[in-house]
Amino acid sequence: MTPQDLMKQEVGKAAAARVKSNSIVGLGTGSTTAFAIEYIGKRLAAGEITNVKGIPTSFQARVLAKQYGIPLTTLDEVDRIDIAIDGADEVDPNKNLIKGGGAAHTQEKVIDALAAQFIVVVDNTKLVDKLGSTFLLPVEVIPMAVSPVMKAIEKLGGKPQLRMGIRKAGPVVTDQGNLVIDVKFDSIDNPAELEKTLNNIPGVLENGLFVGVTDLVLVGEVQGDQVIIKEM
Ligand code: 5RP
Repeated sequence: MTPQDLMKQEVGKAAAARVKSNSIVGLGTGSTTAFAIEYIGKRLAAGEITNVKGIPTSFQARVLAKQYGIPLTTLDEVDRIDIAIDGADEVDPNKNLIKGGGAAHTQEKVIDALAAQFIVVVDNTKLVDKLGSTFLLPVEVIPMAVSPVMKAIEKLGGKPQLRMGIRKAGPVVTDQGNLVIDVKFDSIDNPAELEKTLNNIPGVLENGLFVGVTDLVLVGEVQGDQVIIKEM
C-alpha cells in the first residue's frame, strides 16, 4: 500500500468507528470512503454494532455496501440520517469543500447535507488554503445544456472543460445520466456565492462546492512509519 492509501485506510477506519448501533448512515463515494464502508461492514459482521442501515450516494457506494453486507434503505423510507461519511477533493480552513472527483456530488450533497453529523474523510494532501487551488470545480449539467452552460461559466471568469471518460469513448456520464463540466477558476474568493450563482444557470443540476455543511473533518497524516488522525 502507498502512504496515501494507508492514510485513506486509517481515516476511513476512524470514521467507521464513529458509527453507532440503530443508526442510518449516509455512505459516500470514492476511494477513502470505500475503506469506511468496508469497516462498517466488518463491525456489523463482528456484531460490534447492530441495526445499521446505509443510504448510498452513488452506484459505487451501493455496490460496496452490498459487498460488505450493509443493509440499505432510501430517503423515501427514513425521516433522518444520523451520520454521513464522505471524502473530498479539497478542504479549506472553514471546512468548506470541493467534491465531485467521482462525479457523484449531486447525490452526495443531498445525503451529506441531510445528515445530523457529516464527517469528511481525507488524507492531508487534500487540505488547501483556498478552494480551487489544486482541483477543478465539477458542475453536473443536463446534456442538452452543455454549450450554453459553458458559455455562462466563461462569462463568470471560469475555464470550463467537459470531463471525458477513461477507457470509455466520449464524456463521463453521471449516475443521473448527465455530464460533468470541470471548471478552473483563478480564485474562489466567495465559495457560498459561487455555489449559488452556478446552480442558478439554467441546465446546471449541482456543483461540487459544499459550503457550511461539514461538521467534522478527519485528516490522515503520515508521521514516521505511522498514520495519525487529526480532527478539524
Ligand atoms: C466523489 C467525491 C469523492 O468523495 C472525492 O472525489 C474524494 O475521493 P477519494 O477519496 O477517492 O480521493 O466527491 O464525487
